[in-house]
Amino acid sequence: MGFVLAAAGSAIGLGNLWKFPYITLENHGGAFVLVYLAAIAVVGAPIMAAEILLGRKSRRNAVGAFALLGAGKPGGVVWTAIGYLGVTTGFIVLSYYSVVAGWTLRYIVLAFSGALGGLAHHPGALESFFGGFLADPWAQILCHTLFMGATVGVVFLGVGKGIERAAKLLMPLLFMILVVLAGYVATTPGFGRAVGFLFRPTFADLTAGGVLEALGHSFFTLSLGMGAMLTYGSYMRRRDSIPRAVLTICFLDTFIAIMACVIMFSIIFSFDFEVSKSSTILFTTIPVIFYKLPGGAMISGLFYLLVAFAALSSTISILEVVSSYAIDELGWGRRRAALTTGAAIWVFGFLSALSVGGVDALSKINPIGRASTAGVFGTLDYLASNWFLPVGGLFIALFAGWILTAAESRDELEEGNGPLAGSFGAWRFLIRFAAPAAVGAIIVSVILGAEYQ
Ligand code: TRP
Repeated sequence: MGFVLAAAGSAIGLGNLWKFPYITLENHGGAFVLVYLAAIAVVGAPIMAAEILLGRKSRRNAVGAFALLGAGKPGGVVWTAIGYLGVTTGFIVLSYYSVVAGWTLRYIVLAFSGALGGLAHHPGALESFFGGFLADPWAQILCHTLFMGATVGVVFLGVGKGIERAAKLLMPLLFMILVVLAGYVATTPGFGRAVGFLFRPTFADLTAGGVLEALGHSFFTLSLGMGAMLTYGSYMRRRDSIPRAVLTICFLDTFIAIMACVIMFSIIFSFDFEVSKSSTILFTTIPVIFYKLPGGAMISGLFYLLVAFAALSSTISILEVVSSYAIDELGWGRRRAALTTGAAIWVFGFLSALSVGGVDALSKINPIGRASTAGVFGTLDYLASNWFLPVGGLFIALFAGWILTAAESRDELEEGNGPLAGSFGAWRFLIRFAAPAAVGAIIVSVILGAEYQ
């Protein structure tokens, strides 16, 4: 229970509520969603099992796990390099993730102070408020600082247990709010169109860049490819079942992402919103329905509080990757590791915090398949999610499938679960052939420039 909760807390975050809806919108829904779901099933779930088993088997951080399990096996140093790539990716992702997470803090204050209500009644007002907020460098730095401070504080104190207890209450609450909102939007005129947009694929809309983005996002949303699940796996008890944990986490994460889309798109289609700045819909679209419901200020305040918490349980897992490396491999104490790595990421995050300001940059965040001109923020997100995470995941799959023996991986996967029979064969096929082939083919087709926009 503790492990599943912590790992689901890592997986469920801004990837589900902020990023997935807007990249789905930019990639025209249907076909993109289908590729994303396929990527979760064929690539994401098997790699999550691989990461957890590598962590639990080695009881090490991302770098140490590969060094230990790869010792004396072919390719030695390459595998350790994957660990270092993971730590680097964690550093990069946290630096900009914290900036977006900081926006939720502003909205909590805005909602409870009552000011959000006035803005929400005029969608245009909300957009210009948000644009002004992004363009205010001090506000950006302040929010980023507060969020990094909270993240470092939790890792510094090692209050995993406290977070677990809070998650037990807050995650179901977030879930409930989403269910209530989904129930509400089902009565709006845009609901049918939203569902059609999500689930009726038109493959002509799909580009190679879009496929790469769906793949990259399946890694991002499941916290894969940088050793976060590996690090959490190193704390997992031997009597808990890895397969069951993987299925639960993948299901919850996907369900929440889809629900967020249904809610946001129903509103967008019902009220004919202009969505050119789609990367901001979590902050400019959602409040509009809150204030159509009784108790709008309460609901929206609570909602952004829960989003902030979901983001915090994700940022903790990212900082944990970087700091557990420093603790194990550099021999630092937990406090020193949390403070030093956290401070470095905080400073590096200024680059992102200061680059979200241009209205132009905003509309071009995460440019699909193009070398980015969208500022530091967009470039880092593009590089980390679309390239570093899939490449990390590819090598994790190769390691688990080809370097570990069948007996080694089978023992670890069956520990806490009992005999796996045929499903072990299925996992091993996916991790040896299907996952590497899919990731490899997508990477190659993008490099070759297939169907570029
Ligand atoms: N999965 C989280 C989200 O969807 C973000 C996250 C946490 C993450 N840990 C990670 C992404 C590790 C990549 C790798 O918001």
